[in-house]
Amino acid sequence: MPDTILVADCGAQYGHLIARGIRRLHVYSELVPWEKLHEKIHSAKPKGIIISGGPDSVYESNSPDPRAALEAGVPVLGICFGHQYIAHATGGRVEAGEKKEYGPAKVRVFRRAALTSGLEDSEDVWMSHGDLVTSLPDGFNVYAESGNCPIAAYGNDRLKLYGLQFHPEVVHTPKGEVILRNFVRDICNASPNWTMEDYTEKAIEAIREKAGNEKVLLALSGGVDSSACAALGQRAIGKNLVALYVDNGLMRLGETGEIADAFSRVFPVDLDVINAAEQFYAALKGVEDPERKRNIVGDLFAQIFEAKMGSAGAKYLMQGTIYPDWIESAYASKDASVIKTHHNVGSPLIAGFRRGGRIIEPLIDLYKDEVREVAANVGLPDSIVFRQPFPGPGMAVRIFGSVTEKKADLLRRADAIVREEIDRSGSKPWQYFAVLTGSKATGVRGDKRAYGEVIAIRAVESREAMTASVSRLDYDVLEKIASRIPNEIPEVTRVLYDITSKPPATIEWE
Ligand code: XMP
Repeated sequence: MPDTILVADCGAQYGHLIARGIRRLHVYSELVPWEKLHEKIHSAKPKGIIISGGPDSVYESNSPDPRAALEAGVPVLGICFGHQYIAHATGGRVEAGEKKEYGPAKVRVFRRAALTSGLEDSEDVWMSHGDLVTSLPDGFNVYAESGNCPIAAYGNDRLKLYGLQFHPEVVHTPKGEVILRNFVRDICNASPNWTMEDYTEKAIEAIREKAGNEKVLLALSGGVDSSACAALGQRAIGKNLVALYVDNGLMRLGETGEIADAFSRVFPVDLDVINAAEQFYAALKGVEDPERKRNIVGDLFAQIFEAKMGSAGAKYLMQGTIYPDWIESAYASKDASVIKTHHNVGSPLIAGFRRGGRIIEPLIDLYKDEVREVAANVGLPDSIVFRQPFPGPGMAVRIFGSVTEKKADLLRRADAIVREEIDRSGSKPWQYFAVLTGSKATGVRGDKRAYGEVIAIRAVESREAMTASVSRLDYDVLEKIASRIPNEIPEVTRVLYDITSKPPATIEWE
């Protein structure tokens, strides 16, 4: 078992960024709801624990109480709420701040210690809090302060308890990684033994063990997650892996052919391609609610998989669910409110398979960039390893309101232009596509008034899709796209550029 750092989730929307930050140091880390911490400490025997941020105040009676962390006998680092929790639990004082602090701040670091080693006298950090630690018990040292926060970082080397009022896990704290490294590697003595080479070998072995001599149906979408599963499955069980690709009529232009082609070149696995577009359009007819659309697509996929499992004699279904799919479907942390139901998690049929132990999900512990490493390890070509993410429900979540074949065709053409021009410009955003917004706008065609569709361009930079910033596309490229789309697709009168980051928006529109 790799050395583990547990992150006690006290309701932080982005607690997983802490876990991901630690894994980047090659130390395994997992998010645990604070109520389950006691049990988990027992089974995982962590080398250290981090108490996350959260929206509550420590002096409210029903606020999270991760005391198991303080009783575990390992170093503990509190972040934001966790920082206040440790101070409060050990006899310090926490008070409501005069003003809430949210956003970039500077801290003055006046004491170098195990936690603050390698920091400059002044560091940029990201603050997000209402309460403040205003005093600490004997034995604790204050390491840093900010204008609004006299105790921005503290530590007690004897008890191995530490706190940070700011967030080291976000990119807006540039030295956050140094602090996490100090804690994980130097204070907790965790070894850097979490590597994707190891994971790949173990995943292959686990598939072999679970599948035995049974057949496994792989649901292939052509993205990096399911393609990595295909390669792992192929190595584990060879011919007993049966692959199915379902074209739901909501794929991008030319995509089905490209996937079938790439797959036949890379894998010695038979791929069955089913065209189910009519079925999907019929099921989605008149449905406007985004979550219902997701559920319908997910359920129909599951029905098709089940039928194929029957005809192929497969006992297990293998799919490329990754860790954030769980998190965003509110399975991993009971405190995170549902953002979106991911199709491979939410469907009742899939849930039934899962209860019956009939699902194989070799990537369920991994973040996206870890999956890319595994995909490269098993020899997938760059065109698959670095393929931009594409949502399971396809363009259903990029078409505002009800989905029809006509709208899907229109969006496919607009999307092809967006991708073509961005590819031609040489810029490589993390994800980029067109959205059919559902708004209408007036335009001119020749000398006549036109009233037509509004297309939005979406292009974002991200690392693991949990947060994203807007790609700064070149203005000439944007103008080219805005000129081509209405010219080549007469139904469109206007093109917009979506410049919202995540949060507050999500990457997809629905
Ligand atoms: P959001 O829109 O939640 O998207 O910011 C985050 C990443 O996930 C993709 N996405 C999905 N993928 N099923 C999927 O398999 C889904 O229902 C789904 N919704 C969003 C999205 O393209 C982005 O990369």
